[in-house]
Amino acid sequence: MTALKGIRVLDLTHAHAGPICTLYMAAMGADVIKIEPKWGEMTRMFPPLVKGQSPYFLFLGRGKKGVTLDLKNPEGNDIFKELVKDADVVMENFSPGTMDRLGLGYDVLKEINPRIIYACISGFGHTGPWVNRRSFDPIAQAASGYMWLMKDAIAPDGPPLQAPEAIADTVPGFSALIGILAALVSRTETDRGQKVDVAQMDAMIGTMQSFSFWNIANMSFRTAGRTGRVGVSGLRETSDGYVMFALPPGRITDWFMELLGVEELTQEIVDKWVKERTTDDVVETLEKTGVPVAAVMDLDEVQACPQAKAREMFVKVNHPTMGEIIEPGFPIKFSETKGDISAPAPLLGEHNVEVYKRLLGYSEEKIEELRKKGVI
Ligand SMILES: CC(C)(COP(=O)(O)OP(=O)(O)OC[C@H]1O[C@@H](n2cnc3c(N)ncnc32)[C@H](O)[C@@H]1OP(=O)(O)O)[C@@H](O)C(=O)NCCC(=O)NCCS
Repeated sequence: MTALKGIRVLDLTHAHAGPICTLYMAAMGADVIKIEPKWGEMTRMFPPLVKGQSPYFLFLGRGKKGVTLDLKNPEGNDIFKELVKDADVVMENFSPGTMDRLGLGYDVLKEINPRIIYACISGFGHTGPWVNRRSFDPIAQAASGYMWLMKDAIAPDGPPLQAPEAIADTVPGFSALIGILAALVSRTETDRGQKVDVAQMDAMIGTMQSFSFWNIANMSFRTAGRTGRVGVSGLRETSDGYVMFALPPGRITDWFMELLGVEELTQEIVDKWVKERTTDDVVETLEKTGVPVAAVMDLDEVQACPQAKAREMFVKVNHPTMGEIIEPGFPIKFSETKGDISAPAPLLGEHNVEVYKRLLGYSEEKIEELRKKGVI
């Protein structure tokens, strides 16, 4: 049993922000139909290609059924509208206006199926003066203040810095996921769908506590973290590596001072105590003391660590051309329903026959004819 069993998603997403949202829906059991143009969506081409496949697409495409469909072809466009009749969610992250040009905007789709939930992610939203701007993660990192904050936290006198993972795709992707799930709940009451419009910039702003610190205390969140007792928290060099630990005011700091046998904490005392010990020793001692602590681990260490193993956070995926690959697992552990993210990403058009047969009752001959005509 899965939490989203019976929910069908028509997934037009590309790049990262949209696909991470539908990846999680697939992991929770939704029937995610990834609809791609005949040339395939852009992350299929993201380097480096290994045996012709992009790690990016292999990561984001998991658990989805892959079909091709030319939405600019009138017959292809009609096929999409047929699919909408029996779908729960349409998800896209094109630049705003794209779906309207295809004749597939929310106003059209809700006439076909009033219960449809239409979710879209864009750089700046479907309203406002920046509506026409295209965007990727770094654009939204720049426009939300996040790149400035990275610099403020790490090297205040240096140039702005970009976070190494696509945080300004993932946060909007998860915001859209929350919006879709809320719209599904609301639909049980109203029997109507709705449009869920998420902007990358808004999603970032909405989760950044630094704006509150800035307006109330005139400093960013990380600068605030460097003040007072909290200042002795943070990254420290051990005799053989690095550890990170956190000392909030209160009993955790008291436990730490007791351990060190001091009445007051200074940077120097903490530096010296950590530097005289190995990383393993610091982690073990602080864990016993109750202080939040972690060694700074590289990616191999994370994958090998017993905690990630116990939580099944790396899964084996059997891909038809790649063979067995290792990918991150699904981080939400339900007590009653299964979450699984180990089905492989589809090859381009891999499920054309299965999906068009199952959802629209097309014969294999008809599907072959559509292929020959270039509709799929
Ligand atoms: C990511 C982005 C910059 C890419 O820009 P782009 O490659 O020019 O793509 P657009 O979304 O503007 O347009 C997609 C085009 O492909 C076409 N297309 C997409 N799927 C198609 C299909 N199945 N069949 C036929 N055409 C299709 C669209 O109709 C559109 O063509 P048009 O502009 O001629 O009407 C842009 O989509 C964007 O800003 N998205 C919103 C923000 C976002 O999510 N960014 C990605 C974060 S990782």
